This record gives sequence, C-alpha cells and structure tokens, in this order.
Amino acid sequence: MKLLFVGDVVGSMGREMVHEYLPKLKREYRPQVTILNGENAAAGRGITEKIYKGFLQDGVDIVTMGNHTWDNREIFEFIDDAKKMIRPANYPEDTTPGKGMAFIKVNQLELAVINLHGRVFMADLDDPFRKIEELVEEARKRTPLIFVDFHAETTSEKQAMGWFLDGRVSAVVGTHTHVQTNDARILPEGTAYLTDVGMTGPYDGVLGMAKEQVLNRFLTQMPTRFEVPKEGRKILSACLIELDDQTGKAKNIQNIVINEDRPFGGDF
Ligand SMILES: [Fe+2]
Repeated sequence: MKLLFVGDVVGSMGREMVHEYLPKLKREYRPQVTILNGENAAAGRGITEKIYKGFLQDGVDIVTMGNHTWDNREIFEFIDDAKKMIRPANYPEDTTPGKGMAFIKVNQLELAVINLHGRVFMADLDDPFRKIEELVEEARKRTPLIFVDFHAETTSEKQAMGWFLDGRVSAVVGTHTHVQTNDARILPEGTAYLTDVGMTGPYDGVLGMAKEQVLNRFLTQMPTRFEVPKEGRKILSACLIELDDQTGKAKNIQNIVINEDRPFGGDF
C-alpha cells in the first residue's frame, strides 16, 4: 500500500496548492490513500465544513487535525458527522467531540489512521504515549497497517514516539512545526519515520504567517495579530510511504516538496 501524506495546509494558498497538485501527485506516485493535515486550513486557524468537503473532493481520504482543532467554532456543528476527519486522540475521552482514529478500506486491506498531540511546549493533554498503546492494540486487532500523525512541537518528543512505536505501527510522521525535516528513514523494526512533514501554503512567510507581522512582534515585543497571506509564492510539503500489505512494515519513505525553487517534475 502506498500512502501520500500532505503536511499542514495553511489558509487559502495552501488549499490552492492541494487543489492544483494533488491530482498531479496522484498521477505520478499512485498512492491508494491520501492523508492531509488540515488544522490550519481556515485562515491558519481550524477548519470549516466547506473546506473539509473541498479536501475530500480534491481526493483526500482522511483529514487530521492538531492544536488548532477548535479554533474555528464551526467545527462543533459538523465534527460528529465528519467521518473522514480525526482530531488528536489524547484529548479527554469522555468530553471531546469527534474521534482520534479512523479506518479506511482499500480493496481487501484496511489502514488505521491515528492523530496524536504532543505535550512538550503545548497544551497538557492526556499522555500521548499511554493513549497510543491503547489505540495500537485496538487497531492491530483489525490491521497491521497503521499510520500515526504526531502533531507535536519538539523534535525530541517526536523521535521518542518513533522509537516507542517502532515495529508496532507502519509510520510515525510529525506535523505542527511547518518546516520539513530531512530525516526520513525506516527504523530498525520497520516503522517509517519523519520528524516533520512540513507545511503547504505561503512560501515566503514565517511558518505560513505574514513575515512583516511576525518580524514586528520580534522587533517590538508588542502584541501583533498574525495573518495568513493570500497572495504570493507557495509551497506544498508531503511525504510518500510504501508499506508491505501483509506485515504492515514500511518499505520506503520519501520526502516531497513543491515550490518555485523545486518545481514539480523538476530535477532535484
Ligand atoms: Fe499545529
């Protein structure tokens, strides 16, 4: 099974990149499942139903979220009906709408997709390590094909999660920090690992926000509202993972970046 995972889609420019390049990426790499992190899709903060449905129309199979899950309050209206969206699994279980794990069928096979939230320099949710143990046990009763989007701030927490899950899930890929890391590898027991897949949206900002506003905050230490630019150069960041259908172990993981410096189909 081949999976394509598109990193944190930020604002309208991110959505435009998905719309433009997802068909091309699918033609080129032929993934059976496409997963996308959409927690910044609505002007950098959360997601709306229209945007969620737009992603499905563009060919996304599962949308994962993160710390901005609740920022656009429209989510409370549709999350319980959004069968193809998951939010971090380690929110308090009995009080949080939505779910943290979804299964997707591909012919005779099934892929479990899990979204988790880190705790270092982030909100103090339930322990992601204990929560994932529970979910992996549940998922493995159905399938050895398991993908984890670990939405976390620090490289250390993400690497630790990779080692923790090595051999028990097919892939652990980080999101949230918006800069793609160059450490894609297959860990010794067969889990594909990438610390951060990177972002999809404005290429010339700071993590997707307008650079002038971010700079102003650094230079003046005054409160500054950050906004997502709507025009300019764009980037799409993703990774492609190939799994052994029988064992669920990873056979290959490869970074993908599309921007003006590294155009789609170019030699790099
Ligand atoms: Fe985030």
